[in-house]
Amino acid sequence: MKTIIRQGRIVSPSEVYEGDILIDGETIACIGRNLETEGAQVIEAKGKYVIPGGVDVHTHMDLLAGGSRAVDDFYNGTVAAACGGTISIVDHMGFGPEGCDLHHQLKEYHHLADNKAVIDYGFHGVAQHVNQDILDELEGMMEDGVPSVKVYLTYDRRLNDAEALQVLKRMKELGGVTAFHCENHEVVEYCRKAYRESGRTGPEYHAKSRPNLAEAEAVARILNLARLAGDAPVYIVHLSCRESLEAVLDARKKGQKNIFVETCTQYLTLTEERYLDKDGLKYVMSPPLRTEEDCRRLWEGLAAGDIQVVATDHCPFNYGKEKQLGRDDFTKCPNGAPGVEERMSVIFSEGVMKNRISINRFVETLCTNPARIYGCYPQKGILQPGADGDLVIIDPNKEYVLTHDRMHSAVDYTAYEGMKVKGQIDLVMQRGRIVAEGNVFKGQRGAGRFIHRQSLDNA
Ligand code: URP
Ligand code: ZN
Ligand code: ZN
Repeated sequence: MKTIIRQGRIVSPSEVYEGDILIDGETIACIGRNLETEGAQVIEAKGKYVIPGGVDVHTHMDLLAGGSRAVDDFYNGTVAAACGGTISIVDHMGFGPEGCDLHHQLKEYHHLADNKAVIDYGFHGVAQHVNQDILDELEGMMEDGVPSVKVYLTYDRRLNDAEALQVLKRMKELGGVTAFHCENHEVVEYCRKAYRESGRTGPEYHAKSRPNLAEAEAVARILNLARLAGDAPVYIVHLSCRESLEAVLDARKKGQKNIFVETCTQYLTLTEERYLDKDGLKYVMSPPLRTEEDCRRLWEGLAAGDIQVVATDHCPFNYGKEKQLGRDDFTKCPNGAPGVEERMSVIFSEGVMKNRISINRFVETLCTNPARIYGCYPQKGILQPGADGDLVIIDPNKEYVLTHDRMHSAVDYTAYEGMKVKGQIDLVMQRGRIVAEGNVFKGQRGAGRFIHRQSLDNA
């Protein structure tokens, strides 16, 4: 089947130009002006932006964390993603049984996602302990299309510095990327205990027990370890505060290379006052929401190119159920919030339409950079001949109010309830097929394919 997207404002990280896009079968065949439309389905896009399909490289579909399971599986979660303009995800595998190898979780995640996901998907590995077998296995993971691995510096399956260093070194040799959840575990545990024992158990103490400097200390430490490993590629997930960004800028100023930084929609647009609301448990996530000043610095960092990626850390638990475990004690509340469906619209509205970032930076940080860093570019993340026919049409002249009843995720709330959004996603296409139109899902269960990603060296 051939489709022509006609007269749209086509956006790349460096340009905006009017033109037509011809998609033949699953890939973009040609971009030009006044393309021959005979025999093709024609979609008019005059006055609208045409951007590459969104790429969200930080989701947790079907995550089993402690006793709770995230409520979006790979079907619901990817339907939500598709309706929100995200057509590829790279999901973070959850921890497996103690002592399990990396392929244990890879097998488990193929089982969770294959034949369910409606959009294309990849996985990040998770290093929950380190020994020679695990270090050797990283190569096999790459061969199996998983050239990235995540390390947690907090939670029960965290790694210590020596273990983190070994992973960084091995991943550098292999041309892969190591992603880090950066928080100083000892500091956080000390604060949590102190608040709990003194009866300060409300959700606001979740935020207070995970201060900016506990994150920034861990960011600075891991950047030093990456430098020690010969400027090993290091990717900081969900960076949330100004002190962490300063640590990144300091390291770069000293000449350190291969540092990639991700922030998330919520750290740009929501603040810690939410924890004082009666539904404050909805925002219990790690790192927590920060201050207005932190948001401002993150927007500046995004505009300046200091932050490479905006992702979501989509990890939804129902407010009416799982989140209530924290009603009397914030430490019992499962960590995480939904966002995969809201990312593109909220950042377009709050970023592009409010002139905080250009439309080019929007595309670069929500589509192109995540695909590049994680080895699926130029198949994903760019509109050019040969790339997958993944695109999103946004009408900047439409407005709406973001409410939970518009959402497709299985979760019972949106963290952005009531936000006025400027710009509306009209149409979403994956590999030449419409998967969402006018906020209605039109794709198919199981139509998503595993993205066999390449290492940085092969990309
Ligand atoms: O609170 C969060 N972020 N939950 C998901 C797991 C993680 O730390 O990324
Ligand atoms: Zn994390
Ligand atoms: Zn996460």
